[in-house]
Amino acid sequence: MAAAALLLTPLATAANFTNSSCTNIRAPTVPGATVLSISGAEVHNYSSRPLPPFFLDTVSGLNVCNVSVFLSHPGVNDNVLVQLFLPLTAWNGRFQATGGGGWATSFGEVQLSRAAAGNYAASRTDGGHPDDFYDPSSWALGPDGKPNIGLLTNYASRSLHDMAIVGKAVIQSFYGKEAAYSYWSGCSTGGREGLAEAQLFPDDFDGILAAAPTINWPSTITADEWPQVVMNNEGYFPSQCEYNAFIGAAVKTCDALDGVTDGVIGNLDACKFDPSILIGTSVPCPGGDIKITSQTTKIVQMILDGPKSARGQRLWYGLNPGTDFLITANTTISPTTGKAIGLPFQVPDAWIKLFLKADPTYDTATITYEQFRQLFRQAKSQYDAIIGINNPNLSAFKAAGGKMITWQGLADDIVFSEGTVSYYEQVQKATTGKRGDTQDFYRLFLAPGAGHCYPLAGPVPTDAFGPLVKWVEEGIAPDTLAAAGAPSAGGPPLGPSVSRILCPWPQVARYDGKGDTADAKSYKCAKSFK
Ligand SMILES: *[C@@H]1O[C@H](CO)[C@@H](O)[C@H](O)[C@H]1NC(C)=O
Ligand SMILES: *[C@@H]1O[C@H](CO)[C@@H](O)[C@H](O)[C@H]1NC(C)=O
Ligand SMILES: *[C@@H]1O[C@H](CO)[C@@H](O)[C@H](O)[C@H]1NC(C)=O
Ligand SMILES: *[C@@H]1O[C@H](CO)[C@@H](O)[C@H](O)[C@H]1NC(C)=O
Ligand SMILES: *[C@@H]1O[C@H](CO)[C@@H](O)[C@H](O)[C@H]1NC(C)=O
Ligand SMILES: *[C@@H]1O[C@H](CO)[C@@H](O)[C@H](O)[C@H]1NC(C)=O
Repeated sequence: MAAAALLLTPLATAANFTNSSCTNIRAPTVPGATVLSISGAEVHNYSSRPLPPFFLDTVSGLNVCNVSVFLSHPGVNDNVLVQLFLPLTAWNGRFQATGGGGWATSFGEVQLSRAAAGNYAASRTDGGHPDDFYDPSSWALGPDGKPNIGLLTNYASRSLHDMAIVGKAVIQSFYGKEAAYSYWSGCSTGGREGLAEAQLFPDDFDGILAAAPTINWPSTITADEWPQVVMNNEGYFPSQCEYNAFIGAAVKTCDALDGVTDGVIGNLDACKFDPSILIGTSVPCPGGDIKITSQTTKIVQMILDGPKSARGQRLWYGLNPGTDFLITANTTISPTTGKAIGLPFQVPDAWIKLFLKADPTYDTATITYEQFRQLFRQAKSQYDAIIGINNPNLSAFKAAGGKMITWQGLADDIVFSEGTVSYYEQVQKATTGKRGDTQDFYRLFLAPGAGHCYPLAGPVPTDAFGPLVKWVEEGIAPDTLAAAGAPSAGGPPLGPSVSRILCPWPQVARYDGKGDTADAKSYKCAKSFK
């Protein structure tokens, strides 16, 4: 998410509160859990580091009461931290719970401090395991060698609800009054966590920002391994240089379909990209020219298609044309053989080894197509009920007055945009029985060319959280989200600095045909690009 998003929040009311002692906070009661300890200490002049590519800015000069609550669930043998940063001065009267990324239930103090710097009483939870984005091996298997369902359940949903309860109680104890409004903010795993709250604990939060959510985790994350399975089975490992030729060709084919030639594919529905047009082309690469063969184009086609059943039916989605291959289809040179080999993305690789095979030594490079299909089926049957987070019936959240925003990059290389759109369509049907009404409480914004929670060739929302607050507190629904490119800070390469509007799906941002294409003012929301 754009880091600024968490800071620029309109203040509806100046909060009136008094601090009680930070060292003497009342222990909360958490149903289904035992509170083991509670401690607080004032922290002055705190600064936090950036975490590219997700959080590019830093926070400094923060003065907060730092509260740590540890709790445990009977039978799970866990030790879960819920941490709060409570602004000592200028609290805005609101609560903001923050989510995580990858295998981490939270981003540690990185996102927490940003929320507190925006004058929110902020919280995060570690779910009872280290906040390691990539590597769950320290907690995935229990002492019996089986997947640790207790900790997976914490990560999936339980700890999020506990955090809501603890957060509200600690705020009441410290400030002597309840938070006027409670919010969730997260992207990726944090987006999935936000949707878990809306689905399972619809009264916890008034507003939820659930960006690029890893919902349908068993399908999405298993499918993230698919490009590696394809390369291993086809016996060829294209370099990123070759893959980039396909990105370039896809952009060339489909860029203008949205009315603007800017290196960003906005009209994916109309984009019919055939990788085989590159067969025979020579691509200049660092080690010399590489000729694109039909073997390479087959691999690319299969990655874009996504995994299929033995009968050729789609199991899950693939990468959109024009999307980066770097994360899920990365390759490297084997130090032992000197030959190219696949380099899997750690998040799905660990998922398969630990949660599906319960074997840290399992060699995912040996997975055949048939074995992959079995793993896919196993993932869904074993884990959809725990971490699918795909219940489209949000009636209870809607009835509680909740408002939710999801934004999703169309060049997201981890969470497939079609999965996010498909869920939203199901919500439209399941929640209201009528199309359209969903807009009253839940809006989806697609961001052309944007990556997974950060800008790539296309911009991301400059502030998706402020509009959520406005929707909750003033009843003003966001008809557009402002979006912009952002300066690179060691993150992925960025396109030209542009401003845009994002429109609530299924609307699109249509160019007026005459203004500056880099200026948001030249765009209006419309039914289609035509
Ligand atoms: C804050 O609350 C106190 C006690 O309820 C009241 O006396 C005071 O006027 C309030 N201040 C503001 C700025 O609202
Ligand atoms: C706060 O920390 C900054 C460094 O992060 C330092 O330069 C500054 O002097 C500190 N201010 C106080 C009041 O301690
Ligand atoms: C907050 O408290 C926890 C628990 O004592 C501690 O580990 C952490 O470093 C503290 N954070 C800051 C910023 O002092
Ligand atoms: C809260 O406590 C801090 C430090 O103890 C103090 O500086 C600040 O003025 C207090 N804020 C309010 C609103 O009472
Ligand atoms: C891709 O692989 C290269 C080694 O070939 C490695 O240096 C790089 O960090 C990897 N990139 C990602 C995003 O995993
Ligand atoms: C959706 O959820 C609501 C409230 O939780 C429930 O009353 C309703 O029956 C559900 N609808 C369907 C179609 O399951």
